Amino acid sequence: MVAARITVNGKETPIAPAAPHTTVLDFLRERGLTGTKEGCAEGECGACSVLVARPGVNKPTDWVPVNACLVPVAALDGQEVVTSEGLATAGEPGTPPTLHPVQEEMAVRGGSQCGYCTPGFVCSMAAEYYRPDRCAHAGSDSEVTGATDTAAGATDTAAGTDAEHGPNGFDLHALSGNLCRCTGYRPIRDAAFAVGAPTDEDPLAQRREQSPPAPVATEYHQDDSAFLRKDTLAETLRLLSERPDAVVVAGSTDWGVEVNIRSRRADCVVAVDRLPELRELRVESDHIEIGAALTLTEIERRLDGTVPLLAELFPQFASRLIRNGATLGGNLGTGSPIGDSPPVLLALEASLVLAGADGEREVPLADYFTGYRQSVRRPGELIRAVRVPLPLSPVAAFHKIAKRRFDDISSVAVAFALDIDGGIVRKARIGLGGVAATPVRALATEAALEGKPWAAETVEAAAEVLRGEGTPMSDHRASAEYRAAMLGQSLLKLYAQTTEAVPS
Ligand code: FES
Ligand code: FES
Repeated sequence: MVAARITVNGKETPIAPAAPHTTVLDFLRERGLTGTKEGCAEGECGACSVLVARPGVNKPTDWVPVNACLVPVAALDGQEVVTSEGLATAGEPGTPPTLHPVQEEMAVRGGSQCGYCTPGFVCSMAAEYYRPDRCAHAGSDSEVTGATDTAAGATDTAAGTDAEHGPNGFDLHALSGNLCRCTGYRPIRDAAFAVGAPTDEDPLAQRREQSPPAPVATEYHQDDSAFLRKDTLAETLRLLSERPDAVVVAGSTDWGVEVNIRSRRADCVVAVDRLPELRELRVESDHIEIGAALTLTEIERRLDGTVPLLAELFPQFASRLIRNGATLGGNLGTGSPIGDSPPVLLALEASLVLAGADGEREVPLADYFTGYRQSVRRPGELIRAVRVPLPLSPVAAFHKIAKRRFDDISSVAVAFALDIDGGIVRKARIGLGGVAATPVRALATEAALEGKPWAAETVEAAAEVLRGEGTPMSDHRASAEYRAAMLGQSLLKLYAQTTEAVPS
């Protein structure tokens, strides 16, 4: 087996002697690439973002930004990374490098003051710069640069342009995981809305036309601990049966926080994020099967709105940087009662395909959680896929109540999926998060709605029932009373939103 190594800004570098828990951030900084910064070390500020070459949705390769503070460097064995230093083009000896177009726009539009957040912003911005379906909207750099006063101001006349999308197709959600504490966001937005399309000579644009590095099996041992990656699901299940103590990771968005903030260490970490068996997305006649190790960004782009409830979920799930690593398997595997995906998947009546050494079994998500961070998943079993039955209920909504609009943990979350026919609620499925030790279905509220007219009296009575679902707690995010009140408000809001659209 080839020694673990990573290609950084075009240069292959051995990973040894880094410890298996060493993050990409620490690895880069220890090698002098100090443009990549540590702000929070828990995936919330984006100062550490770097670009990774990943399988593309519309091209062979996408440049995907991730939080380098969360990802173990051993997880990128055999992979290619570009940092803010690698975006600029080296000049002749003794001359400064030529800035990348996104760096140039950040500089000339005043998008950087202290500069601490800037390399992270630049990497997130560069990923959006190279997103193939954005490039189709954008003119050349010079064309767009000439139009940036419009971009910063009266942009609403351009097709597809709104407060969150520039005339160049730039989606500001690309920056939802990047915080700046001193410049203010308007100049950063101006820079984002000013970038054009990459030129044909741009090496990172050209790189998208070739396949990304294939995943490689990894056996990385240092200091009595190991980071392991197998080629297939069968090998991984065998390994897990031998190492029941192993920590299983996909995007490491949860484990990375444990390592950095709680100083947790594991003797053995097993990566499953590149297993082909966990990365399929299939639409069948009666269900959609979503691989548990597809990232949320990949699911979002591949489904492209065909499951409206999931399409509502994704923009509210953490940030783009987190969604580039996080998976449904991870969000369900941790069993958190405040994960964002379980309420939605409960409302969709999803089931989980669990794979173990003895074969596969399918478990309804409603039966999966058994207690606080507990589930029916047995030691050595992996979530292989999530199945969403078809057809979908036509009236659907996801309401996440949190202190911030984006990149926050919910106080309470509610997902609705209703069949309303002839003005009568034929079927109601409601998933709740943040109101009990596990995500739960609002069974009493569902019963209070089914068979009743979709009318103010029914909804008000059902909202009262919904306020009593679960056993919400008071904590630093919200009081129990507030959580209960928000449940009821959520149903009233759905009624207000849907009344006109429902056939009578
Ligand atoms: Fe803040 Fe990584 S250091 S997200
Ligand atoms: Fe100082 Fe953003 S420029 S934090």
